[in-house]
Amino acid sequence: MKATIAPFLLLIAGLALGQERCDAPSPSVFCNTTEILAYETSDCRPFQVFVTRGSDEPYPGRLGNLTREICSGIGGTDECGFENVVYPAKSTSWGTDVWCDSAGQGAVNGQAQMKAYSEKCPDSKLILLGFSQGGAVAQDILGGGGGKVFACEQDANPAMDPTSSPGANVVAAVTFGAVVRSKYQNFTVGEGADYDGQAPRTPEQLAGLLAYSDVLLDYCHYGDPMCAVGSEPADVYVHLDYFLEHNEEVKKWVVAMAKASDGTASGKPSKPTISSTSTSVAAKSTVMSTAMTSTVAVTSATATASVPGDAEAVKQVSPPYNTGAAGSLTPTAPYMPALAFLAVLWL
Ligand SMILES: *[C@@H]1O[C@H](CO)[C@@H](O)[C@H](O)[C@H]1NC(C)=O
Ligand SMILES: *[C@@H]1O[C@H](CO)[C@@H](O)[C@H](O)[C@H]1NC(C)=O
Ligand SMILES: *[C@@H]1O[C@H](CO)[C@@H](O)[C@H](O)[C@H]1NC(C)=O
Repeated sequence: MKATIAPFLLLIAGLALGQERCDAPSPSVFCNTTEILAYETSDCRPFQVFVTRGSDEPYPGRLGNLTREICSGIGGTDECGFENVVYPAKSTSWGTDVWCDSAGQGAVNGQAQMKAYSEKCPDSKLILLGFSQGGAVAQDILGGGGGKVFACEQDANPAMDPTSSPGANVVAAVTFGAVVRSKYQNFTVGEGADYDGQAPRTPEQLAGLLAYSDVLLDYCHYGDPMCAVGSEPADVYVHLDYFLEHNEEVKKWVVAMAKASDGTASGKPSKPTISSTSTSVAAKSTVMSTAMTSTVAVTSATATASVPGDAEAVKQVSPPYNTGAAGSLTPTAPYMPALAFLAVLWL
């Protein structure tokens, strides 16, 4: 009996923990708290983080917490600030062409903002973070973007030259669940590495991105329906849990890259690899993730889930998901039938 109750208790504990976090799959708090916004600035700081949020998230989205973690690791508000890449971040549920218009604006604006900041603050080092649609945009900013995604065509934008400002000032960039990405790249972390996203990058875009491979991590989970199309079973939860899973290692890496870039530390850190983390952690996350699949499936009848990637693609791979443009996962109530369901399943 004890043995069967254990995973159930673990799940409840996991959900309770998840709900206190603004960067968790749910509830959708989205990290625009005073504590996090304290780092938002366009003033010159030694390090400036450009935050490219996911679809339909209010600024700065789930990335806000990781941004604060990174900035506090670098030395606090005197040393590090952030600005949002200004763009609509609209999902396809707003219309067929909306995603492409949105992402295209993000790529152009992000490059312009980084250029303007570097002109104003030539000694500052830049860090770029992007999640979901924002992950695709961040990769577009670095390597160039554009082309067919979902049912629309995104305008082309050129790569940012890595040998001159602002490209040369980029000391670390991390994307999570990027909607447009290519398989088999040496900057990818995670088992989604063997799959393309909703669209692959063109050879020119990949060449542009590879020029940043030393400073780039592209996180992609197996089963993420946005960044690893065809990895089955597809599960929206693994698109939303990057920050529960990887904040610590990403923070450590970005902070160490920052310190290596200004000579505070000698030598660059090695890149994190998911397979090097302990198997017990991996096993636990599989249990959680499987449990959450059931949760989302069971609650989809009553809850409207906001999927920061793309609504239509999620519908394609898993009909039970109901994604709303402005909706959000209803915080607590929908978990109740799911917990009951899981209790039946496990006990
Ligand atoms: C921020 O991330 C850290 C590290 O993963 C976590 O411990 C903390 O609970 C998160 N805070 C919020 C508000 O999400
Ligand atoms: C955070 O975002 C929500 C949703 O857009 C908004 O209602 C709220 O006013 C924002 N809070 C702050 C402090 O900006
Ligand atoms: C990734 O591969 C490219 C060649 O395809 C190489 O130029 C680059 O140095 C590699 N980067 C890393 C970080 O291994």
